[in-house]
Amino acid sequence: MPPEVIVDEPSRLAEAAVRIVTAERERALADHGAFAVALSGGSAATALFPSLAALDWSRTEVFWADERAVPPDDPESNYGMARRLLLEPAAVPAERVHRMEADAPDLERAAAAYAQTLVRLLGTPTRLDLALLGVGPDGHVASLFPNHAALSEAGRLAVPVFDAPKPPPRRLTLTLPALTSSRRLLVFATGRAKAKVIGAALTDTSSRLPVASVTRPAAAVTFLLDPEAAEEAAIGATRP
Ligand code: 6PG
Repeated sequence: MPPEVIVDEPSRLAEAAVRIVTAERERALADHGAFAVALSGGSAATALFPSLAALDWSRTEVFWADERAVPPDDPESNYGMARRLLLEPAAVPAERVHRMEADAPDLERAAAAYAQTLVRLLGTPTRLDLALLGVGPDGHVASLFPNHAALSEAGRLAVPVFDAPKPPPRRLTLTLPALTSSRRLLVFATGRAKAKVIGAALTDTSSRLPVASVTRPAAAVTFLLDPEAAEEAAIGATRP
């Protein structure tokens, strides 16, 4: 199915995210009685979480698409950001929140433990209902960076990254199989610096950028873009 692309002013993209998350949660609850979502850090988190915090987060399992090797209270922690802007305001119960322990000394073991948690809670095949992804100016999503070995992982659901080009170098990330099998991907990008990679993801069917590799095979994808990020994708302003 071709991706849905919503282009709007940054301030209005959060409203679109609220609509999409609400619809996906309702569909998931009707279909299998629970909602499983993976969150990201970066500007997607700061732009969307305050609005998403107003939603009903009951019967929802919260995972992460990636995490940086910092303690949960560190300002760089993706979990910490979600806790401040979303999980605490929405009073999501701690037992439903599945932090990636990227600050663990043994990242291989932490990645394997995270994959086990996904399988235990979601069963097999292991499908998230929704993964929220930001996009780097280099086209990375989660902590899957261009030309990095983690991008070719075909079996495991989560892997360590020891040498990310974006600091900090140590991270945990869901893999392409874990992300592409999500029932919907919600990809958020704003600003001129993202225009080139968004253009490639939406118009170049042979692009090997992570944002293209994750969105191309996915069952359903919604891009949330501001007009600057959409500039090279040949899409004018849209409003759902
Ligand atoms: C992280 C994020 C990462 C992020 C992109 C885009 O831990 O760094 O999860 O994948 O989404 O780097 O970040 P910006 O939207 O802040 O540019």
